[in-house]
Amino acid sequence: MRRMPLTEGLTAVAVIGAGAMGAGIAQVAAQAGHEVHLVDAAEGAAATARDTLGKTLDRLVGKGKLTAEESAGILDRIIIGPAADGALKELPPVGLAIEAVVENLGVKHEIFATLDEHQDESTVLATNTSSLDVGAIAGGLGTPERVIGLHFFNPPPLMKLVEVVRTTQSSGEILDDAMELMRRWGKTPVLCTSTPGFIVNRVARPFYGEAQRMLEAEVADAATLDLALREHGGFRMGPFELTDLIGQDVNFAVGNSVWHQTDRDPRYEPVNLHRHLVEQGRLGRKTGRGWFTYDDSGQAVDA
Ligand code: NAI
Repeated sequence: MRRMPLTEGLTAVAVIGAGAMGAGIAQVAAQAGHEVHLVDAAEGAAATARDTLGKTLDRLVGKGKLTAEESAGILDRIIIGPAADGALKELPPVGLAIEAVVENLGVKHEIFATLDEHQDESTVLATNTSSLDVGAIAGGLGTPERVIGLHFFNPPPLMKLVEVVRTTQSSGEILDDAMELMRRWGKTPVLCTSTPGFIVNRVARPFYGEAQRMLEAEVADAATLDLALREHGGFRMGPFELTDLIGQDVNFAVGNSVWHQTDRDPRYEPVNLHRHLVEQGRLGRKTGRGWFTYDDSGQAVDA
């Protein structure tokens, strides 16, 4: 397969999924100068993400951190694709496609199968999965060597770390290129092998779980546990405020996935209190209520 390095002449990027992560990754790619094709299965989701980005960029212009021309250029480079079934088949050729849809192996696998079939063999296919085996996502594809993980952190425009994840089949050349591309996007990439939770989520799971077990045992309330860990434990955010930012549904799915992939290692066992939170639809900031309750400006009123 003849392939142009990602760092030479990469113009168009596709981002599939315009939720918290996809919208942020689209912003990062557009800020780096790429044309970004943003698609989401939910009608209007990609357009809403672009509108929200417009408001964020307006604020940055207001603060003098960006010129009006730069802001307009970033927005112009984000092209909204249709939400209809088959939208992925109609994507124009891109050099890199980054998937950021729900944490579900079946859904992701189907997306990769479509991309594998419809994009040129030279297109690099990346998943933003937090916990699923990247090798399983690439399983059965004609060209699994071009599949890698690019695991951004929330929110992607602010968080520097990107885990560049390799499978046993990923091309070394593509991994090297991806590391360099992430540096050019202003990120700090780290290379790791696809294992449950990669680096950060593997360590973070017991951090969230132990805090939830302490809450369940009424050791202290969520705000107190967050305060102790943030102010004295050296963490930038406590486990409760952080998972409210991540999204409780996403966080629970990631935890469950790591638990199952580690043969139900008790260190990663989901906590019932967390399961009930998700079942009640208390998904964090995005629904106005998670461990804490948020006002219209996104400020926690009870933290
Ligand atoms: P989200 O729930 O905010 O967004 C997911 C989006 O995917 C939704 O807009 C949904 O309509 C769309 N979608 C679902 N199925 C689709 C399909 N078949 N085709 C196109 N679009 C589809 O989720 P979020 O938080 O953005 O997470 C996305 C991925 O990123 C997950 O794999 C998650 O594990 C990972 N991740 C999440 C982080 C977080 O802090 N939320 C951090 C790093 C990775």
